[in-house]
Amino acid sequence: MKIKVINGPNLNYLGKREVEIYGSMTLNDIENFVTKKLGEMGFSSVKHDWYQSNSESEIIEAIQELKDSDYNLLVINPAAYTHTSVAILDALKMLSIPVVEVHISNTINREDFRSQKITTKSSSAVIEGMGYKGYLLAILGYLLEDNDGN
Ligand code: DQA
Repeated sequence: MKIKVINGPNLNYLGKREVEIYGSMTLNDIENFVTKKLGEMGFSSVKHDWYQSNSESEIIEAIQELKDSDYNLLVINPAAYTHTSVAILDALKMLSIPVVEVHISNTINREDFRSQKITTKSSSAVIEGMGYKGYLLAILGYLLEDNDGN
């Protein structure tokens, strides 16, 4: 079981950036939390590779690399590109694996421009407003479904 976790612009500043909205965990803390919890839940064999870029083109390239790869799931937080990027949407459309979009904050409660979601149009599911735990929930949603045979 291989999972790619892609994070978009400014998420390299998690823990320092608007902590009242995004919390005090860094991206690395979140990755470690996911590793710890998956281990505690008996999913330690699940491999999850984390990637962050501020560049739209690098994110597109990271998505393209998943096509015809052995990854089973993409978890992506496109950050601000969620609201602007048709190019990322088009890249996601090329994938045949499930895509779960994560937002740390509840974007619906925020500025109106965050309600426009472009990349989300090609996601299988969205988890938002659950803070850093959203990444774990996205992965668990897939793993539990898999275990169920549903
Ligand atoms: C975000 C929400 C986006 O609107 C924002 O631009 C981000 C982070 C979130 O995780 O809540 O950078 O994707």
